Amino acid sequence: MSYQTFGWLAVGLASSLPATHAQHDFTQYVNPFLGSEGVIPGQAFGGGDIFVGAALPFGVVKLGIDTYEFPTNISTLNGGYTPKGKVTGISMLHESGTGGAPKYGFPAQMPLTTIEAPVNLLDNETYWQGRVGYDVASVGYFKTNLESGITVELSASRHAGILEYTFPEGEKHILVDTSHYLPYPNRAYDSQFYTGGELEILQNGSLYTGYSSIANGWNLGTPVIIYFCGEFDSVPNDAEAFTGRNTFPVGRHFRSFNNGTVPNPIFEGTTARSGPLSNRVGAVFSWNNSSSVKIRSRIGVSFISTEHACAFKNDEIPSWEISPVVQAARDEWNRDVFSKIQVPVDESANRTRLAMLYSSLYFSHLIPSKRDGENPLWQSDEPSWDDFFTMWDLFRNQVALWLLIQPAYYEEMIRSLIDIWRHEGYLPDGRSGNYNGLVQGGSNADNVLADAYVKGLRGAINWTDGYLAVKKDAEVLPYFDFNPVAPLGSLKEGRGALDDWIPLGYVSADRNHLCVSKSVEYALNDFSVSQIAAGEMPGDQDIYMKRSAGWQLIWNHDAVVRNFKGSLAPRFSNGTFDETYDLTQCGDCNWADYSYEATPFEYSFVVPHDMENLIQFMGGVSHFEDRLDYIFQPNTSNAELGANGLGITSIMNIGNEPDFATPYLYNYINKQYKSVQRSRSLGYQYFSNTTNGIPGNSDAGALNTWLVWQMLGLYPIVTTPVYLLQSPWFPDINLTVNHNHTLRIRASGLDDSDGRQGYYVQSVEINGQPWTKNWFQHSDLDIMTRGGEIAFELGPEMTMWETGEVPPSPGHVVLGDSTGGF
Ligand SMILES: *[C@@H]1O[C@H](CO)[C@@H](O)[C@H](O)[C@H]1NC(C)=O
Ligand SMILES: *[C@@H]1O[C@H](CO)[C@@H](O)[C@H](O)[C@H]1NC(C)=O
Ligand SMILES: *[C@@H]1O[C@H](CO)[C@@H](O)[C@H](O)[C@H]1NC(C)=O
Ligand SMILES: *[C@@H]1O[C@H](CO)[C@@H](O)[C@H](O)[C@H]1NC(C)=O
Ligand SMILES: *[C@@H]1O[C@H](CO)[C@@H](O)[C@H](O)[C@H]1NC(C)=O
Ligand SMILES: *[C@@H]1O[C@H](CO)[C@@H](O)[C@H](O)[C@H]1NC(C)=O
Ligand SMILES: *[C@@H]1O[C@H](CO)[C@@H](O)[C@H](O)[C@H]1NC(C)=O
Ligand SMILES: *[C@@H]1O[C@H](CO)[C@@H](O)[C@H](O)[C@H]1NC(C)=O
Ligand SMILES: *[C@@H]1O[C@H](CO)[C@@H](O)[C@H](O)[C@H]1NC(C)=O
Ligand SMILES: *[C@@H]1O[C@H](CO)[C@@H](O)[C@H](O)[C@H]1NC(C)=O
Ligand SMILES: *[C@@H]1O[C@H](CO)[C@@H](O)[C@H](O)[C@H]1NC(C)=O
Ligand SMILES: *[C@@H]1O[C@H](CO)[C@@H](O)[C@H](O)[C@H]1NC(C)=O
Repeated sequence: MSYQTFGWLAVGLASSLPATHAQHDFTQYVNPFLGSEGVIPGQAFGGGDIFVGAALPFGVVKLGIDTYEFPTNISTLNGGYTPKGKVTGISMLHESGTGGAPKYGFPAQMPLTTIEAPVNLLDNETYWQGRVGYDVASVGYFKTNLESGITVELSASRHAGILEYTFPEGEKHILVDTSHYLPYPNRAYDSQFYTGGELEILQNGSLYTGYSSIANGWNLGTPVIIYFCGEFDSVPNDAEAFTGRNTFPVGRHFRSFNNGTVPNPIFEGTTARSGPLSNRVGAVFSWNNSSSVKIRSRIGVSFISTEHACAFKNDEIPSWEISPVVQAARDEWNRDVFSKIQVPVDESANRTRLAMLYSSLYFSHLIPSKRDGENPLWQSDEPSWDDFFTMWDLFRNQVALWLLIQPAYYEEMIRSLIDIWRHEGYLPDGRSGNYNGLVQGGSNADNVLADAYVKGLRGAINWTDGYLAVKKDAEVLPYFDFNPVAPLGSLKEGRGALDDWIPLGYVSADRNHLCVSKSVEYALNDFSVSQIAAGEMPGDQDIYMKRSAGWQLIWNHDAVVRNFKGSLAPRFSNGTFDETYDLTQCGDCNWADYSYEATPFEYSFVVPHDMENLIQFMGGVSHFEDRLDYIFQPNTSNAELGANGLGITSIMNIGNEPDFATPYLYNYINKQYKSVQRSRSLGYQYFSNTTNGIPGNSDAGALNTWLVWQMLGLYPIVTTPVYLLQSPWFPDINLTVNHNHTLRIRASGLDDSDGRQGYYVQSVEINGQPWTKNWFQHSDLDIMTRGGEIAFELGPEMTMWETGEVPPSPGHVVLGDSTGGF
């Protein structure tokens, strides 16, 4: 089969759109396929797990194809899209860059050219479709050709989508299956499953309304009920609703008939309900007017009611034309996202870099979803956001970018997070389908709130409550949620290992999972709590500052790893270290191991609040530098990354979040040129404008945002107001900060074309003043609030240009006795 999945919308639709907008069209640089493939060509496995389709920034609707990919033991369906998978439906809700089991993939339509046997409307394997030719995608637009000869084009508004089907001559049918969702072929416990639906056919078949209810997914959520309202631009000749016995194999807690034979639909007229047996529910709409080839459909969705869904459809997509919807999407992306970071786009610009920058920005604005007025759980005047995947990924640097360039959205997100605590008792780490879960380590919403707090974000955020919310994380052990992957400690929310952390000061190897990574994360979480306490509850500040030193209690000063002395190490509750454990490994690096997604040796660099102690613990500046140098060497990694590893053989692994800040740590010993050297080569080596142009799962845009900061020449040390100076990839960058102020970043002397290395910093000026430190703070010279200019002088010499103080360690705590509690 000729499959060629990269496509590009260059002419056609684009040229037919009116050029009425003075705004530069940055959407032309976005490659929506960046990250759609992994290391195995044609396979999504090990790629970005991204959504490919039509969406607005933080849109509720992300409209795209759902596919089923073989071989299933390495399939990745998280974003719905796979390069070669068979299309099982086209659905409204998706996530982008999630791991674990897929979430969403509903409600759906599927266009068919026949519904006669062997097609069975209850069995997608009898009607699913391969694709031919190129898929085409651009911001706000997606097009694919099915083997059946049907062409599908899509665009989306915030709560609605428009689908345009071009059928070949002959029969035309559109299947609506309320029980369609993105399955998880690899395992059952976290796979989504269907729990019921309803459908009503109205207006002679040109309209249908109803709901789907689908439970579970990566965060093991309660059922998500999504109401829909779909309309066709022509009245079908026939429209019939049906039910069918539910034989999905994974209907945990709901009726299903495991391993039953696939049933046939029972046609019911104009309405169908699932009833107490969770029957499957759907409808098929048929046209037999052979002179009409196009059928268009508009669908609105709501978490509240079909009335809301119909209103969204009518208000947001008032006509049957797809191009105004595409144009509106592009305008919004340009206005709200891309124009916030402007770089030269003239003839001299390197177009690959434009693609990398604007595609990265695109993927860092797909989730969370902004769901104002669409919270089915409680009434509130606060904004409602969902699909946070997850604070563990986002806190490292993505929230710091939103704070700068999306202060309005970001303030809403924080208010929404606090409102979740208000009504459900805990801030989420992950949240999706209006349900908290899963926690990968600490309660990292604490870091998110602290980062906003120390940078002065106030607005309508109730910080009195914000403080109470993070204090809850620090003090109250969440109830145990019996997640099968983690017999010790809750994964739903909060800190499941507080039962160690509070009495021992560290997370033990025998009473909890993830003792190393949780200790490191809880330490930073408590530092975060102390930072908010400083303003909101000063009497508490010291308590949490002391607890933030807990990482020191699992520092084994006697451990020797690859000739380096001292490392974080698993420590039992009786105080002894697990000396048998290889600190350059992490087993599966998963829920029940000693550390998550990185080895103890890597986590030993992850103490951003107290680098001063860390460097001392590693034996001082030169030992610290040697150890940093070492982890970048090829063939040093001992962890098994498999096909997911993108050929990374160094201990330093840019594909997973724990190491995100590590390449920049040379700034802490005033050797900024080495940070530039290391981080830039990671940027060059692992990021590109290709389908596998990011090193692994995009993690909701976390990896993409790492690249954005790299290209800006800055790196934020989150939970503190510090930005480390690096080296920009563009000679001139205008960043819109604090709503409407311009921070200009200039780089004279930059010359890295054709492999030249003219990107080392020679000197820096901020607002015209010589700047001798390799960092600055958010409030310095007000540049992040009122704008200003950072001027880099770059060149090929590796220079120790900085003479000022090293970056601060605001969480510096000296423990009296570092071998036994506080
Ligand atoms: C990004 O790569 C795609 C696929 O090769 C290409 O079509 C597109 O033009 C590139 N983008 C830019 C801005 O160069
Ligand atoms: C997936 O299954 C195939 C056989 O169908 C096998 O060759 C391959 O090793 C498996 N891959 C993984 C990662 O389990
Ligand atoms: C489609 O068929 C596959 C294979 O039988 C099944 O696992 C899956 O749940 C079905 N539904 C969807 C939406 O893929
Ligand atoms: C349905 O079709 C009939 C016959 O063509 C027509 O009289 C009626 O108005 C239609 N009803 C709606 C709600 O469109
Ligand atoms: C389904 O049932 C048949 C007959 O009992 C059995 O042979 C088969 O292994 C079962 N399949 C699954 C997936 O459980
Ligand atoms: C169109 O299809 C309907 C339902 O299948 C059928 O009743 C009708 O006769 C068909 N009309 C034509 C002109 O083929
Ligand atoms: C059949 O298609 C033609 C051309 O699109 C249209 O004018 C006519 O109204 C259609 N008839 C029906 C019954 O849908
Ligand atoms: C940045 O803004 C300045 C001042 O408005 C302007 O002169 C310059 O061309 C802009 N640079 C870019 C890359 O847009
Ligand atoms: C913050 O919210 C609490 C209720 O949760 C309320 O009592 C308090 O007045 C609010 N503070 C401000 C400044 O609005
Ligand atoms: C401490 O606990 C570990 C794990 O339970 C055990 O193997 C070790 O012998 C204990 N050491 C002492 C000194 O009690
Ligand atoms: C800048 O944005 C802020 C916050 O939205 C607003 O209050 C202010 O009026 C804006 N200023 C200008 C000059 O647009
Ligand atoms: C353009 O940028 C890419 C990505 O950094 C780089 O690989 C390429 O060499 C650059 N092209 C030129 C002509 O400098």
